[in-house]
Amino acid sequence: MLRKAKDIKIGFIGAGKVGFSLGRFLVEHGTHVTGYYSRHGESACEAAGFTSSKSYDNLEELVNDSDALFLTVPDGEIQKVYDKIKDLGISDKYICHCSGSLSSKETFFDIDNYHASGYSIHPLFPVSSKYESYKELSDAFFCLEGSGPGIEVFKVILEGAGAKTRTIKPEVKALYHLACVYSSNLMCGLVKESMNLLGDCGFTDEEALMALKPLMLSNMAHIGEEGPVKALTGPIERGDSSTIEKHIKALNDAYGSQSEQSKADEEITLYRLISSKVLECAKEKNPDRNYSELEEKLN
Ligand SMILES: NC(=O)c1ccc[n+]([C@@H]2O[C@H](COP(=O)([O-])OP(=O)(O)OC[C@H]3O[C@@H](n4cnc5c(N)ncnc54)[C@H](OP(=O)(O)O)[C@@H]3O)[C@@H](O)[C@H]2O)c1
Repeated sequence: MLRKAKDIKIGFIGAGKVGFSLGRFLVEHGTHVTGYYSRHGESACEAAGFTSSKSYDNLEELVNDSDALFLTVPDGEIQKVYDKIKDLGISDKYICHCSGSLSSKETFFDIDNYHASGYSIHPLFPVSSKYESYKELSDAFFCLEGSGPGIEVFKVILEGAGAKTRTIKPEVKALYHLACVYSSNLMCGLVKESMNLLGDCGFTDEEALMALKPLMLSNMAHIGEEGPVKALTGPIERGDSSTIEKHIKALNDAYGSQSEQSKADEEITLYRLISSKVLECAKEKNPDRNYSELEEKLN
């Protein structure tokens, strides 16, 4: 059955950060949220209170009351929850999860047998707070994947609430997630590395973070506005190979004692690999500049 976005009733299984946030975001923008079922009844009650909806201690009742079900449980639980609901009468319903890495096909592989349709609706956003993150979801980008009439319905609902959306094919879901990880989770690893090095210069963690924050935020703002090529500054962009040499020597001096040589090699390999990606940006930004000396230092 093709439902109109304004008529759809959405139920949540899993009252955690995404369940709370997406539910409240939808309610604030006029979508009907039926309510919550969760592993612990208290979480469902709390989420229901937060979204002026209902808490359910009977999964079948939530399924019956909803046209669409969002399985906002940890990735490892999605399949188990789907197995629980598929015999509860999901015919014609839209079954969704919010995982970035799982496709709808691999999770809801037999959904056609139940005359329902499956989707993954992934907010490309760090949802860190049950109570605060919903305020920021209008700025989020949602990546939709799945086949069936629900795609159009969710697009209308999310875009109507101010968010951006696009659809992708299920085959590229893992690659898509990897792309997201590069721009967010892996950044945490790089910042940790940066803080460790500042620690070696005598900074406390608090001082390191205070010093790095304006650098990171300004850089990220420029990357977000102009892309990584235009935003690039620094020694690689300038083709300053003597600085690159100094950096490699500094890593060797810091970690290069006999017992730590493998640590030094690891650090230098990491530096060289990431710098090679930065060099690609530099070459694109300055196609007439000769980077061959610097390239040699990075090999
Ligand atoms: N957080 C993010 O930044 C983010 C961003 C994009 C996508 N996602 C995706 O969103 C989904 C949910 O993530 P989250 O961050 O909201 O996780 P979360 O905060 O850990 O919440 C998950 C909730 O699911 C409930 N739960 C666990 N197992 C259950 C089961 N078998 N049956 C019913 N409820 C169960 C738990 O509820 P109780 O409190 O009742 O135990 C828990 O509060 C995941 O697929 C994740 O990949 C997360």
